Amino acid sequence: RAKGVPVCAQVREADMVAEIARVYAERGGADVAVQPSASDSRMLDNASFATNEAAASEPVIEISHLSHSYSLSARERRRWRKRPTTADASSKQALWGNDPNSPWALRDVSLTVSRGEFLGLAGHTGSGKSTLVQHLNGLIRPQEGSVCALGLDLSSKKDAAAVKAKVGVVFQYPERQLFAETVAQDVAFGPRNLGLPQDEVARRVASSLARVGLDLAAIGDKNPFELSGGQQRRVAFAGVLAMEPEVLVLDEPMAGLDPAARRDFLGLIDRLHREGLTVVMVSHSMDDLANCCDRIVVMNEGAVFAEGTPAQVFAHADELKSIGLGVPAAQRMALALAKAGVPLRCDNLYTVEALADELAGLLLGCADVPLRVPCQAGSKAPTREEGC
Ligand SMILES: Nc1ncnc2c1ncn2[C@@H]1O[C@H](COP(=O)(O)OP(=O)(O)O)[C@@H](O)[C@H]1O
Ligand SMILES: [Mg+2]
Repeated sequence: RAKGVPVCAQVREADMVAEIARVYAERGGADVAVQPSASDSRMLDNASFATNEAAASEPVIEISHLSHSYSLSARERRRWRKRPTTADASSKQALWGNDPNSPWALRDVSLTVSRGEFLGLAGHTGSGKSTLVQHLNGLIRPQEGSVCALGLDLSSKKDAAAVKAKVGVVFQYPERQLFAETVAQDVAFGPRNLGLPQDEVARRVASSLARVGLDLAAIGDKNPFELSGGQQRRVAFAGVLAMEPEVLVLDEPMAGLDPAARRDFLGLIDRLHREGLTVVMVSHSMDDLANCCDRIVVMNEGAVFAEGTPAQVFAHADELKSIGLGVPAAQRMALALAKAGVPLRCDNLYTVEALADELAGLLLGCADVPLRVPCQAGSKAPTREEGC
């Protein structure tokens, strides 16, 4: 409405979509054929539609055919692989199945993280995201398949220990792992364990607190538990940054924060990425993933369900819905409008702004038919009080 598109103040998305589609049809646009989305054919039977750009740059983490079971012993895992299957035994599905009650938390996962990219991990609760994340710095060692990080093979105990400093993982609710008596001691714990000299430890404590927006002089001597929840999380975050990792892995870093703290945190993560860190972030928020990530991997029942740029992944609202996931709000509305006959291009990921611009172009520029809607075309959008 702010752009002069004559629609009423509908609150429900379905009503808004129906109204815009009707306005569009009345304006003479009904016989314009809807172009199918350019990316509709990319989700091939749950396969990946990764872009080649990421593959072309330097890989920092390479996961190959990784499977993990919390319940099967090594012997049971061997027996599992030898069990008779009805389908073609060479197929992935025959080997790992897709039964939600299967003992596998990860099933044949292969993916690469490239240097400097911001990779998002999406998926329903229980889809294996945290299990995958714990493999990235050797906290869980591969049972089946392999994980290489920064050229080190995480099957080896020695390599896994070396990787811990270079791949920093911020687990869910990291503030629950704070333990030291003061903020400064907590942040110093990791670098001190690396055996660094005292002045280097002190430098890292001050700089990592500054990177998360905290001042050593102001809070260094405080007990972490005197701080607010958001500040505690920043301290935990600083503890990971003090290791000066090359890759930062975040498992639902904004969980449980209020909207303002979420925004601050997302801004902070985005800044760290722009400063050169490779970031892998698990999030339930499709809007956050769409806003930040270069690439998104969608997990389902322990396997990679889809992979691609946010625009590629979120072009598939129906497939995502089938595994209990949504898409960002503006994108969802754009796809619904396209289905209702409004010929949106749908070749990129919609922000509210981009969708509003394209609708304004379509509805204000498409025909001479006078508008028969309660609002007047081109008039100032009515205020909430005026209604339509
Ligand atoms: N420590 C554990 N012990 C046993 N099972 C686990 C453990 N952690 C996760 N699981 C199981 O592994 C599967 C994947 O879980 P998880 O990796 O936590 O998924 P997500 O992070 O996507 O919610 C789920 O079925 C979960 O119940
Ligand atoms: Mg999890």
